[in-house]
Amino acid sequence: MKLVVYVYVSMIVLGVQAWPTVKRSFELYPAAAMPYNEHRIADCMHVASEPGDYIFKKAAPPPPFNFNRDSALLELDAVAGDQLEAAAAAAGSVCGLYVIGEPDTIVEITMKHYDVNCESGGLMAFVDGWELNGEYFPAVKDHHRVLEDRVYEFCNNNKQWPRFSNKKFFRSSQNAALLQYRIPARGSFVANVRFHKITQPCNILVQDTAAVYKMSNYGHARNCTLSALFPAAISLGSLRIGSKAVRAQEKVNYDCHLFEDRLEIGGSAGLDTTGMELASDVCGATNELGPEQAVFCGVTSVRLVSTGRYQNQAAVIIRKADEHDLDIATLLCAL
Ligand SMILES: *[C@@H]1O[C@H](CO)[C@@H](O)[C@H](O)[C@H]1NC(C)=O
Repeated sequence: MKLVVYVYVSMIVLGVQAWPTVKRSFELYPAAAMPYNEHRIADCMHVASEPGDYIFKKAAPPPPFNFNRDSALLELDAVAGDQLEAAAAAAGSVCGLYVIGEPDTIVEITMKHYDVNCESGGLMAFVDGWELNGEYFPAVKDHHRVLEDRVYEFCNNNKQWPRFSNKKFFRSSQNAALLQYRIPARGSFVANVRFHKITQPCNILVQDTAAVYKMSNYGHARNCTLSALFPAAISLGSLRIGSKAVRAQEKVNYDCHLFEDRLEIGGSAGLDTTGMELASDVCGATNELGPEQAVFCGVTSVRLVSTGRYQNQAAVIIRKADEHDLDIATLLCAL
């Protein structure tokens, strides 16, 4: 659940330059002005944080280029770009609708329609989490479902008769989900996105560039990761991690790697937090706000490791770090 500090920054800066543009374009139009919250997908990597219908349509490719000499010279430049793009698509470039919700939500995607032909190399996939460059959030070993169960592929097999119902329905396990598609020829789909509140969020993808997140194991044996796709400054409050003996000192220990229950703060170059570099391992108890530390990595993560023997919890205050935060840096990833 999101707590108090909520500095609303009008765009997410997720370290990928194309994304803020995408987000901003939504916010130019108030939701009410858009009937049924329809969104057109125009970019290959499209980040979505609002409910509604997401529509993608790719028309049949234009007739083969006509080598009429005069027009050929004039059009060469324009066509070269198009053809490069078409070639990339034919080679099977994968695009995605990257959905992110509030920290205490899960994502539901209903395929209202899809026309993606298996035979021409078309393919769609729902991913329970995000995937970038072959890396997954949440990390494969930190998810309660194995990877095969987190990725569901589908397409239209027109040879099959009777045809199966087009409607498909998916739910993610955390506030991040991905709808991937590869459509070399023509094709289209309409995906409806909804968010549902949950009471015990575990893995969280950070959406805002400044916010407070509550992490807890709710008494379970589980490891939960909070990841921000930007270099971040982090401080901790309302900390209670570890056994009674560890908490008794009423102070925070930043070097708890020998304890099983701990909060790891670190970073990695990509989405996979499995081998993240660690800046500190935290345990203990305090009600005071701890000092800030900055992690300069492509992805900043806080991972709560719990054996299930204790009720662990922490408030994580996170904001985007900039060059002024270099003097509080505890970790610089190789870039
Ligand atoms: C949590 O992570 C720790 C160390 O990173 C590992 O030993 C443990 O098996 C994990 N627990 C679960 C429930 O995955």
